[in-house]
Amino acid sequence: MIIQYPENLLAEVRQRVAGRNLAGFTPGQGKLKPDLMLVGEAPGRHEEVHNIPFSGASGKELMKMLATIGYDRDSVYITSVVRQRPYSIKEVVDKKTGAKVTKKPNRTPTKKEVLAFANLFDWELAQVQPKIIVPLGNTALQRLLGPQANIGKLHGRLLDQPIQHAKKDGSGYELATTNSLLVPMYHPAAVLYSRKLEPTILRDWQRLGEFIQNTN
Ligand code: URA
Repeated sequence: MIIQYPENLLAEVRQRVAGRNLAGFTPGQGKLKPDLMLVGEAPGRHEEVHNIPFSGASGKELMKMLATIGYDRDSVYITSVVRQRPYSIKEVVDKKTGAKVTKKPNRTPTKKEVLAFANLFDWELAQVQPKIIVPLGNTALQRLLGPQANIGKLHGRLLDQPIQHAKKDGSGYELATTNSLLVPMYHPAAVLYSRKLEPTILRDWQRLGEFIQNTN
């Protein structure tokens, strides 16, 4: 299922991101009321073109991990805290022709960009109603738990605590009055940079599989 965001929230995002280097718009998709809602950082180039979250190289890693605990793309919900691809603009010289070319590589979204999408994300989370929220990497984790949260410390742990919601006026976040279940995970791209992390990530997913058994 591809989620249909309310027009007023989309208009608010457009206004808040006006003039920023953000491309495309990849909606979240998957199952409502799932066991797991996977929350990434922002779409990359592949996602911008194909409009499917986590459909590029990191997505391939993510699907591999999901399969180890018996899930696939359609049996979970997948989104990210920013729904457009953040890019930077780089002028480089083509080695063969000597011509100047403009490149637009992916970059990490800024805190302001994450905040610009915060009401939209809160709305999405309220629609999806997952049993367990799985933030993938620091950007998603810090959006949910605040800037002190660190994936290196919290990965693979079951947390039962209030998450941050956006203040409606866009000035920042406040803690919810009720608890949510979260299991933070390394971002699947981490393994593309450091294969050494693979056993740790596999173990974290096994633990997540066990947590789900215990909450069902
Ligand atoms: N990284 C993310 O966080 N989300 C995607 O959809 C792809 C890469």
